[in-house]
Amino acid sequence: MSDHTPTLVLGGTGKTGSRVVRRLTERHLPVRIGSRSGGIPFDWENPATWAPALQDARAVYVSYYPDLAAPGAPEAVGSFAELAVSLGARRLVLLSGRGEEEAKAAEDAVRASGAEWTILRASWFAQNFSEGHLLDPVLSGQVVLPVGQVPEPFVDAEDIADVATAALTEDGHVGEVYELTGPRLLTFADAVAAIAEASGREVTLTGISAEDYAAALLAEGVPSEVVGLLTYLFTTVLDGRNAHLGDGVRRALGRRPRDFADYARATAATGVWNT
Ligand SMILES: NC(=O)c1ccc[n+]([C@@H]2O[C@H](COP(=O)([O-])OP(=O)(O)OC[C@H]3O[C@@H](n4cnc5c(N)ncnc54)[C@H](OP(=O)(O)O)[C@@H]3O)[C@@H](O)[C@H]2O)c1
Repeated sequence: MSDHTPTLVLGGTGKTGSRVVRRLTERHLPVRIGSRSGGIPFDWENPATWAPALQDARAVYVSYYPDLAAPGAPEAVGSFAELAVSLGARRLVLLSGRGEEEAKAAEDAVRASGAEWTILRASWFAQNFSEGHLLDPVLSGQVVLPVGQVPEPFVDAEDIADVATAALTEDGHVGEVYELTGPRLLTFADAVAAIAEASGREVTLTGISAEDYAAALLAEGVPSEVVGLLTYLFTTVLDGRNAHLGDGVRRALGRRPRDFADYARATAATGVWNT
């Protein structure tokens, strides 16, 4: 889609959205950031903010916050998709998660909207270790998680943004469900070891039971709904159901996905793990 109406990028300051914004801007395409701090504020919790953000947008990158597995997410995404189409949006690119029933319900809602849809079903982002809730544990030198030896094919948010940008701007991706993973399965211990090697810091992974993990988060003052969500993501979604590679990056872009070791080296060079 190469007209000059703005593309609305939800979560446009977040891990994937900011990278989509950068790519569209580099192509001199008009972009509108959809987030609470955007020029036209967009808040998932306040549906009255949705229509102003959608004004004149023909394509939308739909990244939900906090997570498609959160209660109410499929309904919110469905209502948003319906509104977007009724206001003239033609193309919706949904960022989804692998192996989550709630995420599948959100995908169904986008499919039912009547838009030209593309679904990006992503594995765990590598950037959780540098831009998300695992940054502080990495900096502390000890990452304590209720994970075992189940491997995960961590995906680089740069790859997600490349696929999202292609789906928003090019033909040939409508009606596709892309399983976006990295090129290798790694345990969380492997991932932490790669970060330790690239950054030159001592960082280790320590296992913990799901119950002790939840209790520790609650003791730190993390809200109970966030604790429930994190525990669900580290246990149910990490039970082996996603321990296989997807071919979405290759199908969408015709190239191999970025490797976790490359992410670790490039991220170490930014200095984010130096503090
Ligand atoms: N992280 C993963 O490993 C992973 C894996 C697969 C799928 N996903 C999916 O990816 C999506 C995004 O997750 P993420 O971890 O990458 O987060 P993220 O995009 O980094 O989240 C931050 C973004 O959300 C915006 N935001 C926060 N609260 C908001 C609200 N109430 N209304 C509107 N925007 C809000 C923030 O901007 P403001 O502060 O300005 O509002 C910022 O742009 C989720 O739906 C998740 O299910 C994540």
